[in-house]
Amino acid sequence: MNTNTPRDLFFDQLRDLHSAESQILSSLPGLAARAAYPPLCALITEHAGQTRRQLEMLTSVFQRHGMELGNDKSKAVEGLIAGGDAHLDQVEVPQTRDLMLTAHCARIEHYEIAGYGVALRLAQRLGLQEETSILESILQEELAAAHGLEALEPALFQMAMEGGLN
Ligand SMILES: [Fe+2]
Repeated sequence: MNTNTPRDLFFDQLRDLHSAESQILSSLPGLAARAAYPPLCALITEHAGQTRRQLEMLTSVFQRHGMELGNDKSKAVEGLIAGGDAHLDQVEVPQTRDLMLTAHCARIEHYEIAGYGVALRLAQRLGLQEETSILESILQEELAAAHGLEALEPALFQMAMEGGLN
C-alpha cells in the first residue's frame, strides 16, 4: 500500500494503531495474571475493556471511509511486548515484578499516546471532525490509563522495597 499524501499517512498511522491495540488486547490478560497487587490487576483488566472498544472505534473509521485495514503488523509494538515479557520473566520477587509491570505498561501506553496524538493532529488538519473526536476520546483514555499506572507506583515501590528484603 503506497503512502504518498497526508491522508494516506493518516490511515497508515491508524493501521499501526489498530495493530498495536489488537496485539495489546491479546497481551493484557497475561499481564493481569502476572500482577500480584489487586488494584494493578484491576487496572490492567479495566484497560482491556477500553482497548476492545478502541479497536472497534478504529475499525469503524476504516469502514466509514471504505478503506482496507490490511494485515500489516505493528512491529514496534510487537517488539515492545516481547521485550517486556522477556524482562518480566527475569523477576522472581512478585512485588518487584508488579513494579516492572507498571514500567512495561507505561512504555506501551506512551507509544499509544504518541501515536494517537499524531493521528489526532492529522485528523484535525485534514478536517475530519468525526475522526478528530474519536481520536481525542481514545487519547484521553490512554492518558488516564498512564496516570492510573503512575498513581500506583508509590505503593508498589514501597511493597517492592519490603518484599525485596524478605
Ligand atoms: Fe489503547
